[in-house]
Amino acid sequence: MNRLTLQRPDDWHLHLRDGAMLKAVLPETARDFGRAIIMPNLVPPVVTGADAAAYRDRILAVMPDGADFTPLMTLYLTEETDPADVALAHASGLITSIKLYPAGATTNSASGVRDFDRVRPVLEKMAEIGLPLCVHGEVTHPEVDIFDREAVFIETVLDPIRRATPGLKVTMEHVTTSDAVEYVMGAEGHIGATITTHHLMINRNHLLVGGIRPHYYCLPVAKRESHRKALVKAATSGHARFFLGTDSAPHTDPNKLSECGCAGVFSATNTMACLAHVFEAEDALDKLEAFASLNGPAHYGVPVNEATITLEKHDNPLPFPDKIASGEGPVTLFDPGVSLLWRVA
Ligand code: NCD
Ligand code: ZN
Repeated sequence: MNRLTLQRPDDWHLHLRDGAMLKAVLPETARDFGRAIIMPNLVPPVVTGADAAAYRDRILAVMPDGADFTPLMTLYLTEETDPADVALAHASGLITSIKLYPAGATTNSASGVRDFDRVRPVLEKMAEIGLPLCVHGEVTHPEVDIFDREAVFIETVLDPIRRATPGLKVTMEHVTTSDAVEYVMGAEGHIGATITTHHLMINRNHLLVGGIRPHYYCLPVAKRESHRKALVKAATSGHARFFLGTDSAPHTDPNKLSECGCAGVFSATNTMACLAHVFEAEDALDKLEAFASLNGPAHYGVPVNEATITLEKHDNPLPFPDKIASGEGPVTLFDPGVSLLWRVA
């Protein structure tokens, strides 16, 4: 097979940032994707309906001419989030989900939740109105090893929250472990999980063997190969609970290549080419549309995009740019470490 037409895909987890960075990275997503869930971890974060409306306006103001792309807005859950504000933002169609960051879990998460009992009224309101919760699933206790933080979160935070709030729709974001895959497959109720492009392609050896590779550092951190294999299996199975969320998270090179480098992999530009490579290697190109274009809309209860994209396989790799220029500095594109023959036509 060397041509593959899919319904236009969506990205169910994306960081667009703001200002000059937003302007530089938005075209990279708008080129191939119909919609994306826009993460609210700006500084300061997007916490109220008014914040989300203003951020959406700033995104629309720099949309490339002729783009077929809709940003889906989210709010950043804090211990002060007002259930009434959430309900209003949902009823007006402004927001698609609310994002839960455990305080300190990742980039710009200082305003996240420390005491989960304090957000119970918001979670109950969300269950009542059918508004999904997107979850960064890692505990932050210093005594928990960074490679175990997702598995511990499932057991000690996620499962208790879901049991205490039946009916809450949950998206477990950027799953990185077989523990998460098993939990999501086996759980009762409305649950789905996003998987990133890079977690399908790299394990922790890529990050750490032969020298440290800051551009592969992201959170949750890449795990051992058996976990990567479990992710590939889940994504390429076509299972309805797994869908694409790139977690494309641009940071400038100086911020990545520093003594305390930022977490985040920027993959918006070459994600569809990478995914075609991964799915073809599993002999599962026929499942790519489910993962990238169908399962996410079904989870969020929205129609599939009407437009299509076509992927073409070339005889020789067509290189992507190494970096995207931004007004804040260069952003290095995810290097999948393999030659990419597939391209969006
Ligand atoms: C994200 C970022 O840079 O905003 N970084 C990352 O490593 N994924 C935050 C996040 O989604 O955890
Ligand atoms: Zn993210």
